[in-house]
Amino acid sequence: MLDLAAQRARFPALRDGFAYFDNAGGSLVLDTVAQRIAEYLTTTSVQTGASYAHSRRATERLREARARIALMMNARRPEEIVLGPSTTQMMRNLASAMAHRFSPGDEVILTLFDHESNIGPWRVLAERGVIFRWWAIDPDAFEIDLDALRALMGPRTRLVCVTHASNILGAINPIAEIAGIVHAGGAQLCVDAVAYAPHRAIDVQATQADYCLFSFYKTYGPHFAAMYGRHELLLELDGLYHHFYGRDAVPAKLEPGNANYELAWGCAAIVDYLDECGGGTGDRAAIERAFSAIAAHEAALGERLLSYLRGRNDVTIIGQRTAPPETRVPTISFTIAEHAPDAIVARIDGAGIGIRHGDFHSRRLIEHLGLAGRGGVVRVSMVHYNTLEEVDRLIVALDGALA
Ligand SMILES: Cc1ncc(COP(=O)(O)O)c(C=O)c1O
Repeated sequence: MLDLAAQRARFPALRDGFAYFDNAGGSLVLDTVAQRIAEYLTTTSVQTGASYAHSRRATERLREARARIALMMNARRPEEIVLGPSTTQMMRNLASAMAHRFSPGDEVILTLFDHESNIGPWRVLAERGVIFRWWAIDPDAFEIDLDALRALMGPRTRLVCVTHASNILGAINPIAEIAGIVHAGGAQLCVDAVAYAPHRAIDVQATQADYCLFSFYKTYGPHFAAMYGRHELLLELDGLYHHFYGRDAVPAKLEPGNANYELAWGCAAIVDYLDECGGGTGDRAAIERAFSAIAAHEAALGERLLSYLRGRNDVTIIGQRTAPPETRVPTISFTIAEHAPDAIVARIDGAGIGIRHGDFHSRRLIEHLGLAGRGGVVRVSMVHYNTLEEVDRLIVALDGALA
């Protein structure tokens, strides 16, 4: 169980009583993350790798941060963690570091239910004659179909790119099962875990993802991101740094200009926080216990809002109608007959509650669902620091806005 009062006290921005439901856009930041960034900048902001004391300390902090993030993703070794400014940028980097592996006629499977970050960056491979196959979703049931993926796989399939959780539907995709299909076909799997990481424990060993990326600013930290890549695959990638960073310089050859040290050091505090939420044993089990508690609380939050939405016959829930923690995170999207999404959001804005509307850069999904002309969806995205009382406030405000 979470100690919600204690957890909320760790997010200074919550103190003003604003009910924050735009977490899938960007979460609030932990106190210790902000403190550590400031502390890094005022004590060890020097270049790493030298022999003097401050540089040794900076080097050690970066090493420790990478190891903590490896634990968070359950990577086998810290060198499998590449750090960078954003998921989008690192997807682009990955696409360019992989480009030489593709020949004309090779195929890449992209989805119509991903954020554009795991679609657009791959499209540059068209320059190498790569053919794209599109994995769609049932636009009425909002469910993915693994048989559709099997049907798309072929002898030339080299890569499949899919999201771990949808930033619109809230659906958690069965990545381990997907990896089984992809690997059986001899292809690699790139997973966007941005909308999953705040809610559940990323586990690259359990899922067998080849690449897995997420952004810390949606997971209680700053604008910074991490990419896991299986070590033997990282070795094979083209380097993006100077020519003298050789094949084995992993992950440095994939961090051109170096990662941002102070943000890396700050982000390690997210792992410490999760460890504390999970009993403070300092191991992977603590991270998993933390996310089990988070999942249970999130299911209650999700169900509270979904039960209200289910009770209105003018609302269409864009996603699963219930909130089982195995298959859904509490990112809840909906449309309302007769009301444009932007009009609803404008009416809620005045109530000290933050929600949002649009396509959230999952434009292909919104178009596929036929919602683009209506201005997308209204999205309420919750994380573990939200309370049932806040959800009740939102329900009262929605009731007024939809009256
Ligand atoms: C599911 C998903 N993937 C990727 C991104 C992009 O992340 P970044 O802003 O770090 O590039 C977002 C941001 O909204 C997202 O929701």
